[in-house]
Amino acid sequence: MSPPINVAVHGAAGRMGQSILRLLGDCDDLSVVAVMVRPGSSLDGIAVSVAQSALLHASSLDDDLHPQVLIDFSNAAAFDGALALAVKRRIAFISGTTGLDARQRDALDRAAAIIPVLWSANFSLGVAVLARLVAQAAKALPGWDCEIAESHHSGKKDAPSGTAIALGREAAAARGQDFDRVAQLSGSGNDAPRMVGEIGFAVTRGGDIVGEHTVLFATRGERIELTHRATDRDIFARGAIEATRWIAGRDVGRYTVSDVVAGSSA
Ligand SMILES: NC(=O)c1ccc[n+]([C@@H]2O[C@H](COP(=O)([O-])OP(=O)(O)OC[C@H]3O[C@@H](n4cnc5c(N)ncnc54)[C@H](OP(=O)(O)O)[C@@H]3O)[C@@H](O)[C@H]2O)c1
Repeated sequence: MSPPINVAVHGAAGRMGQSILRLLGDCDDLSVVAVMVRPGSSLDGIAVSVAQSALLHASSLDDDLHPQVLIDFSNAAAFDGALALAVKRRIAFISGTTGLDARQRDALDRAAAIIPVLWSANFSLGVAVLARLVAQAAKALPGWDCEIAESHHSGKKDAPSGTAIALGREAAAARGQDFDRVAQLSGSGNDAPRMVGEIGFAVTRGGDIVGEHTVLFATRGERIELTHRATDRDIFARGAIEATRWIAGRDVGRYTVSDVVAGSSA
């Protein structure tokens, strides 16, 4: 049996970090070597056990630790530090952190020249398939209006969700549009009538909704609605763990969840 893949989890105290650590505890082929929390966190230095290993929460990565994969689910402000660490220590980088700006998206591309990088706004297999369906529909129905509605729990910090924006980018790319020119994000002039070709976004926040996305294509007399509903946060954690197995030992480069899905079914 090959030795386990060593993994560091960044953002370990968060909801996603906790799900990932819990599921990693059941994976014999993956070994958690670092549980990373925010500098100043009350957990820094506090013991944590994952599977049979006794570890300490830490806000930095000790030099004697050599994770092959760093999994980051933190926030946009903490993301830069996680990516810089992965590049400096030559660790494959898996991230699901959303709310990234253009500079941070460019940084992912630059890092992919040095390490394997897989960032996704959504690690669910179902959403990877939804994105393909959206691209198909957008291309096949170029004159139809496209609107994207998303719902999440009341504590979500960014809006529209990274997944909604990623779906909008798929639709725009399939139509040869510049997403930033056609996107009408909530709260930015969304009250004006839609211009032809614009992609509108609507946001709902409430309760403990894990994540729902509907992409609507509409024209006179008919419409298509493509919907994905997540009811369990573990789907994202399972996807990130599958991606971790898939990316360990890969060549440098930029990868997507679709690559993982294609690789699993190959
Ligand atoms: N791609 C996907 O499939 C997917 C799915 C769900 C969520 N997400 C995204 O993943 C991210 C995390 O989501 P969540 O629901 O887990 O959020 P969360 O509960 O707020 O967790 C974020 C965690 O990051 C920690 N953090 C902040 N700065 C840090 C630093 N410098 N170093 C290490 N940890 C740091 C926070 O620590 P403190 O608690 O100490 O502040 C917090 O525990 C968000 O961007 C969310 O939108 C993505």
